[in-house]
Amino acid sequence: MAAGTWRGVGRALGAAPGLLWIDAHLDAHTPASSPSGNPHGMPLAALLGVGAPEMAGVAGPPLDPARVAVIGARSFEAAEAQLLAAHGVAVFGMAEIDKRGLAAVFADALAIVAAGGRPYGISVDLDAVDPLLAPGVTTPAADGLNGGDLRLALGGALRTRQCVALEIAEYCPQRDPLGITARLAIDLVEAACTPDADTLRHWEANYGARNYAPLPVVLAEGHGCWLSDRDGRRYLDLMSAYSAVSFGHSHPRLVAALAAQAQRLAVTSRAFHSDRLPLFLKRLTTLTGYERALPVNTGLEAVETAIKAARKWAYKIKGVPDGQAEIVACAGNFHGRSTTIVGFSSEAQYRDGFGPFAPGFRLIPYGDTAALTAAITPRTAAFLVEPIQGEGGIVLPPPGYLAACAELCRRNDVLLIADEVQSGLGRTGYLLACQHEDVRPDGVILGKALGGGLLPVSAFLADERVMQVFAPGDHGSTFGGNALAAAVGLEALDLLIDEELIAHSAELGGWLLAQLRALAAAHGRLIRAVRGRGLFAAIEVNPAHADARLLAEALAARGVLTKDTHGTVLRLAPPLTITRDELAWGLARIDEVFADAGKQVRRAA
Ligand SMILES: Cc1ncc(COP(=O)(O)O)c(C=O)c1O
Repeated sequence: MAAGTWRGVGRALGAAPGLLWIDAHLDAHTPASSPSGNPHGMPLAALLGVGAPEMAGVAGPPLDPARVAVIGARSFEAAEAQLLAAHGVAVFGMAEIDKRGLAAVFADALAIVAAGGRPYGISVDLDAVDPLLAPGVTTPAADGLNGGDLRLALGGALRTRQCVALEIAEYCPQRDPLGITARLAIDLVEAACTPDADTLRHWEANYGARNYAPLPVVLAEGHGCWLSDRDGRRYLDLMSAYSAVSFGHSHPRLVAALAAQAQRLAVTSRAFHSDRLPLFLKRLTTLTGYERALPVNTGLEAVETAIKAARKWAYKIKGVPDGQAEIVACAGNFHGRSTTIVGFSSEAQYRDGFGPFAPGFRLIPYGDTAALTAAITPRTAAFLVEPIQGEGGIVLPPPGYLAACAELCRRNDVLLIADEVQSGLGRTGYLLACQHEDVRPDGVILGKALGGGLLPVSAFLADERVMQVFAPGDHGSTFGGNALAAAVGLEALDLLIDEELIAHSAELGGWLLAQLRALAAAHGRLIRAVRGRGLFAAIEVNPAHADARLLAEALAARGVLTKDTHGTVLRLAPPLTITRDELAWGLARIDEVFADAGKQVRRAA
């Protein structure tokens, strides 16, 4: 019982702790006011030293009411509220929480219970949480706290020396056969025990390799287009993990598919069949119109698969002399980070120190058909191209480029391979970005969104004409095409169609581009160009006056997450599930950030 817990904590400390009481009820009845006489309704009153002698008399100091605060109360009787008010206990009800948000209310309550830097404890009655999220409680009360918000609010509490104890009360397993409430209780304890944001960043910097320079935001939750950091601040996600989170964060259908499959069967290797992979392969090939798919994990593996397929096709089918096949790729490309792939990157940093590199690649300028004509020889196996260069800065090739390349490849018996890892699956308003020019490449590489933002799922797609080159043992991957990945990939493809996200991307993308043009007109000095297709857009800044990385940091401070590429381009690639209102909100923040930057430029001039 809570009364025993906090008297015991008081005995151990030698003084009563402050107490944050998180509960749907006030638990402030006395035997005189309780209609039922049930001691359940009395512990907070008893801890203050009033009422039921068997509880109020437990050895230990009574609480100081000036250092007690209640959060989440919504089901109580007048006598309880009167008793707490008479003692001066602060009560934060649901109306206030709904209005101000739990994070703000929690901070106020904390200031009360932790006043003067003295020790305090937290008691969480699980019925404080909405019963839809925590059904396993004895006395459910509708319209409660969001479990995720509570998890964020409790984040790191126990790592501060000042918070001396956390109590979780009221779990009733009989009412929750699925164990959802137990899971929540574990999550709450885990959140309270994990370090705060600064410590986490410090650990990442100290224990991880330094191969990333993340923005100073420590994310802890994501739902739909919104992310929350460790301290409960919310951000609109305008980057969606480089298109991997096209369906938004933790889409319920994807999470359900993942959880259900994880409980049945996850990984078997391809040494055996599974009852999921064939469903995924059939759906993927039917949707894209290719005869075969080779599933792997990350995008770079799918690119490597395409390279292998192209080379082997060149030797076995086209008749290129052994060891002489060449693949033409474009300057400004990004196809991944393996040594083979960075070997044909035009970005010096991606290559620096990682050679020697595999031969057999030739780089030409992007968007230049004459250069492709000149580069093709009888030894050319394939032309590998992004229909829009994503990492290169959301660079669109000139109109007609892809169609002209397809024709050149066809005439020269060269495979056209489109890397649609980022641009595919509705991102640009078509299933595949190549469809903007009615181009059907010989091979297509998909990744990112194919895993529903939950798992790495990628694939190389081609017709039998190309895919026939692979015989058992030629190529593979332990995790590629595993049952879990197949189940999630299948659901992701279904979702893309069911939620009509491709059309949504096209329509909202048109509106986005119009808004970006207006933005560029308003901040002409800072913005050099805007461009985009579907929900794949970019703002290129004028490097003389603005730094895209600093703008991304300023946006994060205003609640919008995106990332620069090359310090000059701000990318906008939100989840395809984003609404116009959400996008408008994000664009308003971008406008503010450019307005601020403009003021700075004028001041400096
Ligand atoms: C076009 C393209 N291809 C391949 C990749 C590599 O994918 P992954 O990071 O999953 O290996 C990326 C990643 O950004 C990409 O944008």
